[in-house]
Amino acid sequence: MKKVVVVGSLNMDLVIEVNRIPKIGETLKGERMNYLIGGKGANQAVAACRLGDEVTMIGCVGKDTFGDKILKHLNEEGINVNSVKSDDTTFTGIATIFKTKVDNSIVVIPGANEFCSRKLIDENIDLIKSADILITQLEIPIETVEYALKVAKENGVKTILNPAPARDIGDEILKNADFITPNETEFELICRKSIEDNKTLEKEMINWQDKHQNTRLIVTRGKEGSSYVENNAVKTVKAITVKVTDTTGAGDTFNGALAHGIINNYSMENIIGFAGTAASLSVTKLGAQTGMPTLEEVKKNYIKN
Ligand code: RIB
Repeated sequence: MKKVVVVGSLNMDLVIEVNRIPKIGETLKGERMNYLIGGKGANQAVAACRLGDEVTMIGCVGKDTFGDKILKHLNEEGINVNSVKSDDTTFTGIATIFKTKVDNSIVVIPGANEFCSRKLIDENIDLIKSADILITQLEIPIETVEYALKVAKENGVKTILNPAPARDIGDEILKNADFITPNETEFELICRKSIEDNKTLEKEMINWQDKHQNTRLIVTRGKEGSSYVENNAVKTVKAITVKVTDTTGAGDTFNGALAHGIINNYSMENIIGFAGTAASLSVTKLGAQTGMPTLEEVKKNYIKN
């Protein structure tokens, strides 16, 4: 079994279903509320684990009911949570998600995720060294992200940086990222250009990739699929068509599945096609993790080239 280490956030998602997002100063009656386990890190860990990889999560929760529930759930999924610290001086991260039929808006209160420190990485260095790939995102302190990528890279472990939620990141952090997976909004921030159309997106992707030859850029584009640069041209692998219930966690599923494709030496086109198919399947159910597919489910829907 290939080994995946995820350094990242764990949240309790408060999913509020509403007909539309309330305007400022407005009170709306919602349809339903669900407590669902999320956090970009935990979601990516579940996505990789459902595909059959051996997954370890490094992160931080509060010593509270939400923290206990998250750890129990991840453990039941088959994820090693021995390196998730329960901190009694803080509370578990919370994401309030307003979900409409069309899309969603999220407000995150990081709580314990802010305590995911460089020290925690040092305490788990052997684990990182023995992994095949490390995935991280930006819902934990940026210095931890930077350090985790550095430690992994120095030890020959492949790395994926999912630069979400959108944040300005410097070139220093990119030095140790083998793959970077922004969506279109995140890519605008990374390349510091405003992108209004497809032509500009492709031009900026080619420019960016040319300047950062050690980091493979993959831009996720929702129902359009995902794009990458090969031989100075942008290639897009189309997404499969599905009935959308909830897009929360689609990007996380993509990253978990991307890790699977990379460590199993798929071709670039198949890595993207496989990850995109997993992401499409994930949006067919409510909640970030509910619809994340198994390996068999992805294989049934994606025929490798
Ligand atoms: O990417 C989706 C995740 O973002 C949600 O599960 C929520 O916790 C937020 O962190």
